[in-house]
Order: sequence, then structure tokens, then C-alpha cells
Amino acid sequence: ISLKPYNTFGIDVKAKQFVSVKTIDDLIAVYSSEKDIEKFILGGGSNMLLTKDMDKLVIHLDLKGKSIVSQTENHVFIEAKAGENWHDFVLWTLQQNFGGLENLSLIPGNVGSSPIQNIGAYGVELKDNFYTCEVLNLETLKTEIFTNQDCNFGYRNSIFKQSVKGKYIIINVTFKLTTKNHVLHTNYGAISSQLEVMNVSKPTIQEVSKAVIAIRNSKLPNPKEIGNSGSFFKNPIISKEGFIQLQQNFPDAPHYIISETEVKVPAGWLIETAGFKGKTFDNYGVHKKQALVLVNYDNAKGKDILELSKLIQHTIYRIFNISIETEVNIF
Ligand code: EPU
Repeated sequence: ISLKPYNTFGIDVKAKQFVSVKTIDDLIAVYSSEKDIEKFILGGGSNMLLTKDMDKLVIHLDLKGKSIVSQTENHVFIEAKAGENWHDFVLWTLQQNFGGLENLSLIPGNVGSSPIQNIGAYGVELKDNFYTCEVLNLETLKTEIFTNQDCNFGYRNSIFKQSVKGKYIIINVTFKLTTKNHVLHTNYGAISSQLEVMNVSKPTIQEVSKAVIAIRNSKLPNPKEIGNSGSFFKNPIISKEGFIQLQQNFPDAPHYIISETEVKVPAGWLIETAGFKGKTFDNYGVHKKQALVLVNYDNAKGKDILELSKLIQHTIYRIFNISIETEVNIF
């Protein structure tokens, strides 16, 4: 079958074998019976670039459901299954007036993939509200619980991308959210100015979500209209010395101080400064409003987008002496 409807980049590659699983038992059954074929787990398909047909067994993780696990004075613990759409889940928590996920509104993808790269936006990361996740151990086919600490979260990073990569499938995530005394994160520049535009001075969590949605809609392409996977690259973290060198040629380079020795530079700025913003090649290119996003305008080939990403990486390295890594997983 074609995987085009299953990846937000909208790349048309074929999977030789495909199965959709709706329960954990189904998932375990597939692993017990199909021992000899390599498997590929597909969640929301929002963080991948497919460059060729898949000869693996593609398992679409379609586990659904969300529930309140327990409640304390100020907090609620909510469990959501891996196949829940992330943004729909966020909206649901906001409808119940549960706080914590509002800044992460409108991020594409599913709940089950959210811990893998510790999704983040507008000053908040998944790890700030993540409590535990339940995983299927692919060796024992038994489930295990990972705590926040176990996951070893970092910037767009977790243990699931590092030491235990490919060893577990996340089947549900439990979040710890606030029921009162919500802690708002509105310092991220664009949020406070958006709230001003909305004429809101004392925002609720729902209003913060609306502000985030407005900002995202103004610069990030909607995958339903233009194929994309959000930020294609990670923002590089460079040494302080490297940054001082960069400043000699580019005194206005935007940056965030990470620590005494490290500085993060927005890859979007590097790509725009290198002249790629809005560049279009036939049916693919660099998004016009946010240079960090590569786009598929119409039936582009994954290979072509991959080539473009390499050209961007080489050019950035040549101009700035900075390596940028892909954020999107390439297959
Ligand atoms: N910039 C440019 N040109 C561009 C894009 C950005 O000069 O074309 C500059 C901006 O002017 C600003 C800086 O880069 O000074 C940062 O831009 P922005 O606030 O748009 O955020 P970002 O660093 O480009 C990151 C995340 C996004 C997330 C936003 C908001 C990464 C790789 N990306 O982007 O996440 O939504 O911050 O928090 O960390 C994603 O991961 O898919 C994603 C969209």
C-alpha cells in the first residue's frame, strides 16, 4: 500500500506489508507471529522523510483512548494511548481546564511519539509535564514503565533516540497536569505580543493555546495543505568560542545562551542568511515563512528533499563553519 496518507510530508512510497494495530494484544500478537521480518513502527508520521519503498512490515500504531488516572489537590494524572492525535489530546485537556500542555498546541503527530524527541515549543517541552510512559519491551514482549528520569530527556532528545533505540514501543503516556494555580509560560517573545494583539492581559491556559495556534498558523505550513515535517533541522548548539567567531562576521546573529560554554543558534536564521528561504525547486523547497521547514508542494520525491537538505547542510558549513543536524528521521 502507499504510505502517502501516513506521513505528513506526503511522500508516496510503498510498503510491502502493512498492518494497523488497535490494541496492545494485537501488537504483541504481530511480534510473536512475525518473527523473521524486520518491522517499522509508524505513529503519526509527522517527523519522517521517506526516501524509498519499505521492504519491512509497517505496523501502524492505532491505540486509542485517554483517561484520568488519579487526582491530587492541585494535579491530575492523565493517561493517553500512543495513537491519540497530539493536538486533539491537548485540546481535550484544555477543555477540562487541565494546564500544562497549552504551549504545545498544534504540534503534529501522536502522543506515542511525543517523548521520543521530547517535543517542544514556545518555552515548554514535553518533559515539563511528562510523568511516566508504558512501553512494550520487544525482547520479552512484556510491558515496562519508564519514569521521567528514566527517559533522560534533552533538547529534541531522549533515551528512545539513544541507548534503547528500537528496543521498546511506547504504548501510552501519563501526564501530570495542573487543575488550579496554572503556571503560564508567556515569556517566549511571540506569545506575549500575540496576547497583546488578542487584547488579553491576564491570559487563561486556553488563551495561551489560542495565541500559540495563531503564531504557528502564521508561519508554519499546515501539513494538510503543504506536505512537511515541521523543523527539518535542529538548532545547533555551538561552543562559546565558535559563537564569538560567528559574531565577528555576523554581529546580529540571534542566539540563546545555553550554559557558560554553549550557545544555541537558530538554524532558521542560518538557512535564511544563506539565501535558501522560500527557494523552490520544481515541486519542493524551503518554506517561505520559516526557513527551518522543508516542504513538498506536490508529489515530490523524498530523495530530492534529502538532496536539498544536504545542500543546505554543506552550504551552512561552508559559510558559517557550523554543522546542522536533521531533526526529522530519514528512512
Ligand atoms: N529565524 C530566521 N529566519 C527564519 C526562521 C527563524 O531568521 O526563516 C530566526 C527568528 O527570527 C528567530 C529565531 O530564528 O530569531 C527563532 O525562530 P522561531 O521562534 O521561529 O523558532 P525556531 O528556533 O526556528 C523552534 C523549534 C520549533 C518551535 C519553535 C517555537 C527547533 C528545531 N524548532 O524553532 O519546533 O515551534 O522553536 O518554540 O527547535 C519542530 O520541532 O518541528 C518545530 C516546529
